[in-house]
Amino acid sequence: MARRRGPGPGRGRAGAAVPDGPAGRVPGERLDVLHARPVRACPAPGRGSAPGRPRIGRPAAEPARRTPATGRGRRARCAPPASGWQADRQHDRAPRRHEAERSGNREAVEQKADVMTDKLTVSVLGTGIMGAAMARNIARAGHAVRAWNRTRDKAEPLAADGAHVAATPAEAVEGADVVLTMLYDGPATLEVMRQAAASLRPGAAWVQSTTAGVEAVGELAAFARERQLVFFDAPVLGTRRPAEAGQLTVLAAGPEEHRSAVVPVLDAVGARTVWTGEDAAAGSATRLKLVANSWVIAATNAAGEVLALAKALGVDPDGFFDLIAGGPLDMGYLRAKAGLVLDGRLSPAQFAVATAAKDARLIVEAGERNGVRLDLAAAGAQRLARAAARGHGDEDMAAAYFASFDEPPAS
Ligand SMILES: NC(=O)c1ccc[n+]([C@@H]2O[C@H](COP(=O)([O-])OP(=O)(O)OC[C@H]3O[C@@H](n4cnc5c(N)ncnc54)[C@H](OP(=O)(O)O)[C@@H]3O)[C@@H](O)[C@H]2O)c1
Repeated sequence: MARRRGPGPGRGRAGAAVPDGPAGRVPGERLDVLHARPVRACPAPGRGSAPGRPRIGRPAAEPARRTPATGRGRRARCAPPASGWQADRQHDRAPRRHEAERSGNREAVEQKADVMTDKLTVSVLGTGIMGAAMARNIARAGHAVRAWNRTRDKAEPLAADGAHVAATPAEAVEGADVVLTMLYDGPATLEVMRQAAASLRPGAAWVQSTTAGVEAVGELAAFARERQLVFFDAPVLGTRRPAEAGQLTVLAAGPEEHRSAVVPVLDAVGARTVWTGEDAAAGSATRLKLVANSWVIAATNAAGEVLALAKALGVDPDGFFDLIAGGPLDMGYLRAKAGLVLDGRLSPAQFAVATAAKDARLIVEAGERNGVRLDLAAAGAQRLARAAARGHGDEDMAAAYFASFDEPPAS
């Protein structure tokens, strides 16, 4: 598609830099405040971990490094009980560190130092677009990373960052304090975790970041229970670039008493973590993720249809972008996705058509199971499936644009 030079999608008048994918932040601070929970309150003196709960951390024989729940270790890394709105603030790494430095608060500065020296063995299963970037940031934060990917070639570059590239999922999870899964979908995740099962250590934490859908999260949580893993439902918002920059937003649900064991990993991959609940099996984080992705996918499909209609009617797309520039109809995400199509920058994908089609199906199913009609989501899912069937599956989801045409459009 021909473009005239000058302001346009991706660099238009409406704003300088625009995001290249789902934003690293969830819009709507109030929503975060309502859902968020503190990292963990300090246990009362003399109280140990809850009986019958799997312990996160090293086996008992090893020196404890970070076991505040048991009261052992160098120093309990926990927050004093908060009150009022502070008790409901999301875990937000950067501001907390900066606040600590500014205020000179000794406890807070020590807490920051403790986070930075608290090194874990983290197994990353799935090193695609997102998983590779997350593994790299975890390694760069100083943790020992053991990475596995079905197609080994995609994991190999992580060796340069000090990661151990494992030949099997079982090898990857050996000795892991935390297992992070970032695979295509729920069934793939369950299958890979089954392959890893023999080497999974009871008490290890499982940070499940694949966008798996509400039903699948229940199945994965059941597997975690069988294996005595501490399960965290932890999908992410943000795409390739936020992942590479360690600026994702992690939506997380899991038991408060064990959160401190996974916070160093969440801090390494994200700018902030929004805690949505304690019961990971209920999938409250995944529910919020699906709601957010329904908006992301609808916006992407709408961007593609705007361009297709403009082309069909002989309207210069820049005329449309000039029309809405700076007003309430303007949107950085629209410009970013349209820009990928207009500039022919669909590969490498930020978020591939095939993966978005999977998410769109999960959204449609979630609506059906919960008694709401999602007409746009259903149409959007078909559109993405059609684009994938026409050979655009590995391109950025903005390539859903091509689903508008029976024949490939002239550029
Ligand atoms: N990209 C984004 O913007 C974004 C943002 C937020 C969340 N997510 C979610 O994050 C997850 C990963 O997305 P991605 O963009 O990183 O996708 P991706 O690059 O396609 O990676 C998918 C990963 O899953 C693996 N995989 C697929 N099927 C498998 C199977 N049957 N057995 C074992 N491994 C299998 C792939 O292995 P191979 O390399 O061997 O194919 C690859 O490691 C998805 O759930 C996605 O919805 C993506």
